[in-house]
Amino acid sequence: MTESLSTRGSWGSKVGFVLAAAGSAIGLGNIWRFPTVTGQNGGAAFVLIYLGCVLLLGVPVMIAELSIGRKTASDPVGAFKAIAPNSLWKAVGGLGVLTGFIILSFYCVVAGWTLKYVLLTVSGQFVGGNPETIQRTFTTFVADGVSVTIYHLLFMALTVWIVTGGIEKGIEKASRILMPTLLLLLALLVLRSLTLPGASQGILFYLSPDFSKVDLGVIMRALGQAFFSLSLGMGAMITYGSYLSKDDNLVSSALYVSLADTLIAFLAGFAIFPALFSVPDLSPTVGAGLIFLVLPNIFNAIPFGQLFGAAFFFLLAIAALTSTISLLEVVVAYFIDQRGWSRKRSALLVGLGAFLFGLPSAYSNGSVSFLDGFMDAVFLYFGEISLALGALLICLFTGWKWGVAAALEELHSGYSYSSRFVAPVWSFLIRYVCPIAIAIILTSIVASYLGA
Ligand code: TRP
Repeated sequence: MTESLSTRGSWGSKVGFVLAAAGSAIGLGNIWRFPTVTGQNGGAAFVLIYLGCVLLLGVPVMIAELSIGRKTASDPVGAFKAIAPNSLWKAVGGLGVLTGFIILSFYCVVAGWTLKYVLLTVSGQFVGGNPETIQRTFTTFVADGVSVTIYHLLFMALTVWIVTGGIEKGIEKASRILMPTLLLLLALLVLRSLTLPGASQGILFYLSPDFSKVDLGVIMRALGQAFFSLSLGMGAMITYGSYLSKDDNLVSSALYVSLADTLIAFLAGFAIFPALFSVPDLSPTVGAGLIFLVLPNIFNAIPFGQLFGAAFFFLLAIAALTSTISLLEVVVAYFIDQRGWSRKRSALLVGLGAFLFGLPSAYSNGSVSFLDGFMDAVFLYFGEISLALGALLICLFTGWKWGVAAALEELHSGYSYSSRFVAPVWSFLIRYVCPIAIAIILTSIVASYLGA
């Protein structure tokens, strides 16, 4: 056990783990995707449903993933094999590895956009611009498949480079300084956004719920976004948990990570919506371009906005990097543990594969018309539905196959406070509430597709 831990690498410290897991969770999902889907799904009511999903479904699933990972100290496929040998459960790990690969492929495309925006902002491209020119810059860029591909490649290469460096040296160091800085810049953006003319309309949109807009689709998007943002449902937290030591407290780690993740997403909404309503002709439903259309306007309204904006996009790129690292790490851990590949070989080949698979997404925003909407579709199927399915299976596995008693035993190591409250609540959620809620949402979504 000790030997396998040391040859696989492990976290340098407890805080290091929480920061790295938060680094995995916090990324484009919070700052780019959360405002985008909130805007497309009616605002405040979506936000409330989202919060419910995080608390009731996300946190328990994260605790389950971490305990499976630490118990088995292996990649997602190996983890299911270790607890349930000679069964089909390993397919859940397989689905996770596949999902991670596909998410990585399109995630790097958008992460590449943020790199481009570092350059655009620092070079003063937006200075003195108006909403129209800002919009034109975005649409021209994303319609240029070749340059989108170059940034996509660059981002994938960075990810491969860090994952090749190993656990502690690469992932942990980067998360430590940069995530708190991102939080600080985001908070400053929120302050400016809230004081722009027209801000109150945005606050209303964001905070005053209108449940008449809620339908099945909205609930599905909230559920999917919760799993996506928390990095759940495909074994990323199983993999990160596998590098944890026995004296870490899994319950409080899961709570810290979820809290930090949700706070950043919530703040991102506060940065975007008030500012959005101060820009004429921009609607919350614009989709993937939302933050790239709104943020440059805020930067233009602050002193040193050029530098501030560049720093913000830079930190966003780093946040995205700590997420792509975790996505690649899951797939790489699989090839190392199950196929005996070296870390270097796995990282290079998987990175190359994900780059190639990302090409249709890179060309899906105007460069090639038959690919229009490709990225949105893959995002829906793999970034949301597949994660919800994975989470459902993980709940069933933990609650009914592995069993809550065994899972609790794993949880109790490194967890010294009284378990009188946590254990029964978590057991009930993971056995009943989570699987039933997720199953109902998933089946009704599938039924509505079939009916349509
Ligand atoms: N959670 C990250 C974000 O919000 C994306 C991500 C990283 C992810 N690893 C994951 C999503 C694993 C699902 C599963 O940007």
